[in-house]
Amino acid sequence: METDVLIVGSGPAGSAAAMLLSTYGVPNIMVTKYSRLADTPRAHITNQRTMEVLRDAGLEDVVVAQATPQHLMGQTPFCSSIAATEELGRLHTWYTHPNRQADHDLASPTAICDMPQHLMEPVLASAATARGTHLRYDTEYLSLTQDDDGVTATVRDRLRGDEYQIRAKYLIGADGGRSRVAEDIGLPTVGRMGVAGSINVVFEADLSRYVAHRPSTLYWVLQTGADVGGIGMGLVRCVRPWHEWLIVWGYDIEGEPPDLTEEYARRLAHQLIGDDTVPVTIKSSSAWTVNHLYAERYHQGRVFCAGDAVHRHPPSNGLGSNTSIQDAYNLAWKLELVLSGAAGPALLDSYSAERAPVGRQIVERANRSIGETGRIFQALEGGLDARKLPGEGAEKQRQLLREAVAFKDYEFNTHGVELDQRYVSDAVVPDGTPAPRNPRDAELYHHATTWPGAKVPHAWLGRGTERVSTLDVGGRGRFTLLTGVGGEAWAAAAADVAEELGIELTAATIGPGADYEDLYGDWAALREVGDTGAVLLRPDNYVCFRSPALAADPAEALRTALRQVLAV
Ligand code: FDA
Repeated sequence: METDVLIVGSGPAGSAAAMLLSTYGVPNIMVTKYSRLADTPRAHITNQRTMEVLRDAGLEDVVVAQATPQHLMGQTPFCSSIAATEELGRLHTWYTHPNRQADHDLASPTAICDMPQHLMEPVLASAATARGTHLRYDTEYLSLTQDDDGVTATVRDRLRGDEYQIRAKYLIGADGGRSRVAEDIGLPTVGRMGVAGSINVVFEADLSRYVAHRPSTLYWVLQTGADVGGIGMGLVRCVRPWHEWLIVWGYDIEGEPPDLTEEYARRLAHQLIGDDTVPVTIKSSSAWTVNHLYAERYHQGRVFCAGDAVHRHPPSNGLGSNTSIQDAYNLAWKLELVLSGAAGPALLDSYSAERAPVGRQIVERANRSIGETGRIFQALEGGLDARKLPGEGAEKQRQLLREAVAFKDYEFNTHGVELDQRYVSDAVVPDGTPAPRNPRDAELYHHATTWPGAKVPHAWLGRGTERVSTLDVGGRGRFTLLTGVGGEAWAAAAADVAEELGIELTAATIGPGADYEDLYGDWAALREVGDTGAVLLRPDNYVCFRSPALAADPAEALRTALRQVLAV
């Protein structure tokens, strides 16, 4: 059995890689160990960058139709039970604070949403198969060997019991947090697994009457006498509003995980709901561990790893599946160009160079967020009720609690972490300017720039009666050159250079009477080049070259830049 790319794993990373490769016309096979896709909700927050990937792949509408929308995600309370109307504090999360809503809406043509993993994987995998991916369930990856021309993987058919080999030009190890592929190619890792213990319980219960006045994706429940520490924090997460839920509850990693009987799960659900009379149907329960581990390099030879295989961290900040899908978006177009012969194999080195720093950043960020929750515990050291008392001590406690809750912004409103992943690699041509400084907090706030290595800023443009984003002008597996009135020579040069290099490169002029109108003047404010300048986008809508004005020889300037990016 032969293919161009073999993908191991059908989670968010694997399914997204398969879907994108098939979209770009690259033959691929995806193998997965089990007879199904994810059967539990797991990851859910789907941030704007991931929605941009899905928009480019033509899947945004499918996801929006199934996801819980932003306006039902963000009234996040900290309370002593779901039934308790009294709250310890409440935070506007996922950019629902009026101030942050503007940041959110200005940053992208897409909106953040809540799409549980058991709904997301079928969207990705069915688009993949509809577009050409061969998906083989019940197929376990066992081992691989690689040579100068390709990779030979040995897999086991778990239905028949026999082993066979698949030969591919490249292999993507998207086999999750216990990745055998990453281990087999010896990726160097930093950190450790099993930092803390957690239990997930998925249950059905109609909780509308307790949550209708504060719609949120997450409800934080703090209770005294919990399993871990004096005060324990449980998370009740909405899977489907407002009748399906997932509890995350800690256990002491030094001991054994609790016996996850249905009785235990129901007791826990009732304890956090705070009303034993609510009918609860337990759907599943499982134990998992919090990890703090990232790979320093994502590939070895012709084998590339993506997703949890190379970054393992707790669910805080909701970065798990987002980063996994974004890894795939970074890798897929590079594989397509190398396989088609338009790019040299060295382009693939940029995958590690660009994504490994992101993996490290999100592992550190997610683990820091867990630690910062400790500030809430500290503020409640005198017990949950001490804050209700008059007096200086209690006033101080109230202040500490308000500050501790507000500080959770770093878990729930990190727009910069989500959107400002700057790439420094050979697939980006620096223009000699330093990385722009974000005038606000770089984790909390997005800073739009056309600095080479940044994602193209979003601006609404007009074409006839249609309103499109700058991101819609780019993408779709091809390079895009954006210029303005007086920069038409760039567009002519782009057509010549594209033909010469054998790549797809479209040029769009933005301005009065041009291909696109700059409807609100936003693009002119964001583009950081003049009307006659140019901004060159890679297929993943990252800026790889820019010129402040028309070059003396635009064709030569584009040729030189693209040759560097393509490693030819
Ligand atoms: P993922 O683990 O999803 O997929 C791995 C794939 O590889 C699976 O299809 C598996 O069958 C396959 N596979 C493994 N070994 C194989 C082999 N030898 N041969 C063939 N196939 C093999 N994240 C988040 O952001 N928010 C959240 O709330 C949660 N909650 C959560 C709960 C639980 C219980 C878990 C386990 C995880 C989370 N996560 C999460 C993490 C999130 O689910 C995770 O980041 C993504 O699923 C990672 O996607 P991947 O595709 O990398 O791996």
